[in-house]
Amino acid sequence: MSTAANWWRGAVIYQVYPRSFADGNGDGIGDLAGIRARLDHLVELGVDAVWLSPWYPSPMADAGYDVADFRDIDPVFGTLDEAEALIAEAHERGIRIIIDIVPNHCSSAHPWFEAALAGGPERELFWFRPGRGPNGDQPPTDLRSIFGGSAWTRVADGEWYLHLFAPEQPDFNWAHPRVRAEFEDILRFWLDRGVDGIRIDSAALPVKDPALDGIEAYTDQDGVHDIYRSWRRVADSYPGDRVLIGEVWLPDRERFTNYLRADELHTAFNFDFLCCPWDAAALRECVDATLSAHAPVGAAATWVLSNHDVTRHVTRYGRVDSSFSFAGKREGVAADLQLGGVRARAAALLTLALPGSAYVYQGEELGLWEVEDIPYELRQDPMWHRSGHTDPGRDGCRVPLPWSGMEPPFGFSPAGAAAAPWLPQPPDWKDRTVQAQSGDPYSMLELYRKALRIRRAEPALGDGRMVWLPAPDGVLAFAREPEAAREAGFACVLNLSAAAVPLPAHGEVLLASGPLDGAALPVDTAAWLRLDS
Ligand code: NOJ
Ligand code: CA
Repeated sequence: MSTAANWWRGAVIYQVYPRSFADGNGDGIGDLAGIRARLDHLVELGVDAVWLSPWYPSPMADAGYDVADFRDIDPVFGTLDEAEALIAEAHERGIRIIIDIVPNHCSSAHPWFEAALAGGPERELFWFRPGRGPNGDQPPTDLRSIFGGSAWTRVADGEWYLHLFAPEQPDFNWAHPRVRAEFEDILRFWLDRGVDGIRIDSAALPVKDPALDGIEAYTDQDGVHDIYRSWRRVADSYPGDRVLIGEVWLPDRERFTNYLRADELHTAFNFDFLCCPWDAAALRECVDATLSAHAPVGAAATWVLSNHDVTRHVTRYGRVDSSFSFAGKREGVAADLQLGGVRARAAALLTLALPGSAYVYQGEELGLWEVEDIPYELRQDPMWHRSGHTDPGRDGCRVPLPWSGMEPPFGFSPAGAAAAPWLPQPPDWKDRTVQAQSGDPYSMLELYRKALRIRRAEPALGDGRMVWLPAPDGVLAFAREPEAAREAGFACVLNLSAAAVPLPAHGEVLLASGPLDGAALPVDTAAWLRLDS
C-alpha cells in the first residue's frame, strides 16, 4: 500500500454497497466473502481505496443505515473476523478501506433505544417529548421526516421521539456527553482495526436546536463543528493518514467549506457536481465554484457522479432534464440510455481529470443504468414506502452487480444458489457483466481501466491545479499543472456543444471517450491530450 501522506487528496475511491456487490454464500444478498473474492476486480480497475456502506448488525429498515451495534458485522454480511481479514487483504493489494459511520441516529433495535423505551435514563440520549393537545396525541412539532411523514413517533407511554429518517432510526441527542464519548470510542474501535478512513453519514445533521421545529433546527447547526474537531483529534492520534469524509448536503458553499477547515474533516462529497446538469456553462460554473470554495481552507475537492442514494448517471444524462434533485424524482421520466451512456463515458474522463479525488460508485464502471421497472412489491427503500409511492425510491441504483454469464444472477451469487438476488437484475445486463466487457476495447469497463492506469502514471492528475484553456462555446478545455502546461502538459477537452469541434493543438491523444472524427472531437465526447508536439 502506498504510504504517501495526503493520499486522499488525489485518490480514486470506489464505493462498495455490500448488499449488492457480490454474494459469497448464495442467499441472494452480497456479503464480505463476496467482496473478498472480488478484490482483484478492484485491483485491475486501479482504484486506491474502497468505501463500504454500513455493514453493522441492523434490522435493515434503511438498508443498514439503521445500526443496532456499531462494533460488529451483520450476520447476513459475515463476521468481525471476516471484516478484519477483508481489511488485511485489501491492504496487501494496496487498497485502503473506508467505513461508514452513522452518528445522527441508530436503529430502534439498538440497546440504548430499547433501554430508553423501557423508561431508563437512556431516554436522555434521544429526543423524547410529550405531545401537543389535551391528550398529547399530536406530535410535539410539525417537523417532517426526510423520508416523508412526521419526524415524530409516539411510544407506549405516550411520549414521542424524533427521527429525521424512518421511525426505525431514532435521532441521537448530541447534547449528551455519553453520545459524544460513545462515538469517539466507536471511531477508535475501527481505527484500531486498521481502517484508513471514515465516511460520515448525514454529517450536517447531528446537532439540533431543542426547539425542533423547521429544517433549520437540524441542518448545519454551528455546534456540529465541535464534534468533528474532536473526531479529527482522534484520527490524528493514529499512525498513517486516517481520513474523515463528510456527507454534507448544503446549498451554501461557504457553510459547506466550514466542515473542511484544517482541524475538521479532510474532505466531503461534492454534491453540487453530482446534481449538475449536462451543460457546459453549468459544469464550468460548478468546477469554478468548487475550487474557489475549497481554496481558502486548502482542502482537496472531490468529484462524484453517482452513489447509492441517487439516480445512476447513465439514466440521468439520458434525460431532457439531466440534473439531479431528490425533490424532482418521479416515476416514468423517459431516458435515452444510449445517449446517457455516451455522456457517462465523457463524464468519466472529465471527473478523473479534475483536480482532487474522485469517487466511483459500484457498477458505474460497467455503465449500469437505473433499474426503473422493479416491481412495486419488491421495492424495499423507505423513501418509496414513506413518500406514499410518489418517490420511486433508491432501489433502482442498488440492484446487484452483474459479473459473468448470460442470465441472472450473472455470477452475483455462486452457481446453484438457492435464492435469487435480493432485487431482480435486468436480463439486458448480459452485455454489462465484467466478463463481457473485459478485453472489449470499446466497453465502459476498459475505458475506466485505461483512464485509471493513465491517472496513476500521470503526475499532473489527481491533486493539484488546473487552468481553463480557450475553447469554443459549449466546449470545456483545461490543462493540469499550469506552469508545465506548455511542455509535456496534460489537457482534458469535453464537447458539450451541438457540433463536432477541432481538437486544440496537441502532441498526442492519450485517451478518448468515443471515436474521434479525424482531428475533430464529436459531440458528447471527451479526450485527454498530451500538449507537447
Ligand atoms: C445518507 C445515506 O447515504 C442514506 O442512504 C441514508 O438513507 C441516510 N443518510 C440516513 O442514514
Ligand atoms: Ca450472501
